[in-house]
Amino acid sequence: MNELLKKSGFSQRAIEYYTKKTNVGKIENPSVSFSYTGHCGDTMKIYLKIDSDIITGAKFEATGCAGAFSAGSALMEIVKGRSIMEAEKISEENIIGHLGGVPETKIDCVYLAKRSFEETLKLFKDTRLNS
Ligand code: FES
Repeated sequence: MNELLKKSGFSQRAIEYYTKKTNVGKIENPSVSFSYTGHCGDTMKIYLKIDSDIITGAKFEATGCAGAFSAGSALMEIVKGRSIMEAEKISEENIIGHLGGVPETKIDCVYLAKRSFEETLKLFKDTRLNS
């Protein structure tokens, strides 16, 4: 399978994330979790643990392709240890750069991860405002 992914244009790091399921799973008692469905019909659910504005834990579950899983792994990796404000500035380009490139046809899957994360943070902020 790794050869197939390589042929499809996935980087070594993306393949590693996908096969090792890096940051895939649930966080028990998360500070926030949110599920978002993209245009392709795939869904990503993000779990964040946030302590004093710092993201101390980040995991996700998804129905989706290798593009979604590798992008989700990368994004969780990037945001861990960052403040909410810093994490909000992470772009699709940052995710793609961290992975060392993404096949052209998988850019939308990166967008799914980014959007799911954005919505999760938004929910966290909205809930905090209203409590
Ligand atoms: Fe749906 Fe990649 S095609 S996440």
